[in-house]
Amino acid sequence: MVQFKNFSRSRRALLKILTSVALLTFTDRAWGATRPPIACTRLGQKVIYRGKKYTCIKVNKKLVWDKGVPLPIASSKPSTPPSATATPTSSLTNTPKESPGAHSNSPSAPPSKTRIFFAKSTDIPSFGTVVINGKDQLERPLSVAFTRFGSTLIALEAFCTHAGCIVRPNGKELTCPCHYSVFDPESGKPGNPSQQGAYPLTRLDVVEEGGAIYLWV
Ligand code: FES
Repeated sequence: MVQFKNFSRSRRALLKILTSVALLTFTDRAWGATRPPIACTRLGQKVIYRGKKYTCIKVNKKLVWDKGVPLPIASSKPSTPPSATATPTSSLTNTPKESPGAHSNSPSAPPSKTRIFFAKSTDIPSFGTVVINGKDQLERPLSVAFTRFGSTLIALEAFCTHAGCIVRPNGKELTCPCHYSVFDPESGKPGNPSQQGAYPLTRLDVVEEGGAIYLWV
């Protein structure tokens, strides 16, 4: 009788172990099926996978991909020149009240975004591209490629859209040091159709005021 009890106890224990292993395998597969297949190694690292943008976050002291944000579907409509949409009520439009040194590639203030100070105007050359490493509004690492020509200032997220390495200015291009994808520093578009980073770099809303560079994030 004692022997029978011991046998059924160990059978129950074995069953429990098998169920846990099966559950773990299933959860892992389900997670892996929707998350990027590459390792998330740096807090704030970004990667684009299956039409979503994922950010590397910390959960229980472990670095994991967040649930991802669907990429906006590119509109085929040509963008309207800022002068045609300028309204007297917008705080970021080019009104006569704006300080003479202020330039923006985003005339209207995005209502759902936060404006953060990111760099000094003197950090960016008058002509050319520079990558500046900083922090976003949640203190996560944010690297931005700024390109200035004349009065135009363009800001792009400097995380390669393949696996999130930080791109670098290289002549008239931005180059990824990891697997050599190249991007246009003005449009963010990939320079080679067959490269690993197949999506464009994300454009950021930027405004320059009183010698400071602000981003809307
Ligand atoms: S991370 Fe940039 S090409 Fe792979």
